[in-house]
Amino acid sequence: MSEAETTGRFPPFRVLLSRDEILRRIHELVRQLTADLGEGYADGPPCLVAVVEGARPLARTVQRLLPGALPVHEIKASSYGSGTESAGTVEVLGGRDIPCAGRTVILIEDIVDTGRTIARLREHFRAAGALHCRVLTLLDKPSRRVADVVPDYIGFDIPDEFVIGFGMDIAGRYRELPDIVIYDAEIEKVFERTALAE
Ligand code: IMP
Repeated sequence: MSEAETTGRFPPFRVLLSRDEILRRIHELVRQLTADLGEGYADGPPCLVAVVEGARPLARTVQRLLPGALPVHEIKASSYGSGTESAGTVEVLGGRDIPCAGRTVILIEDIVDTGRTIARLREHFRAAGALHCRVLTLLDKPSRRVADVVPDYIGFDIPDEFVIGFGMDIAGRYRELPDIVIYDAEIEKVFERTALAE
């Protein structure tokens, strides 16, 4: 989606990362990942797992750039509740049939915040027999970390702000925004009031 197509459709949130910057960085991460996995996947093709729904656009891009047309499996983790605060307990939903035993799992995540989701998913794949579990995340908020998690591939470190766009949402909204922007309830309110008045 071009800037012209999105202008006016969404509140004018502050852009933190443009789609171009995001895509460029994903290219770099995949180059690094491909080199680490070895020529022709020395230890066998990795098992790609997207943490949905937020990581879908990232996972699709990674899939396109990696050699071998690897399938992307999906897993869901629910941290109870919506809004901008994640709760303490993470439940793994689905993903039981992902063929991860004896393989390197690449967990593809949109953002690592407290780290609880990734810690729980790593545990899940280790218990399911994965050989290794590597984490590729587009965004990292290291200042918010609670769990002992250091992602292997990080697109961007970001400050403690709630972000949306490029797959990320707030209560199911704004996933289709092409850029990553900082959510601001005031800007949203003014935008909605203006739209109603027109
Ligand atoms: P964690 O378990 O606290 O690391 O949270 C990870 C999950 O919380 C991510 O997969 C997102 O779904 C959600 N999350 C955390 N911070 C943000 C944000 O700034 N914007 C959108 N979703 C977020």
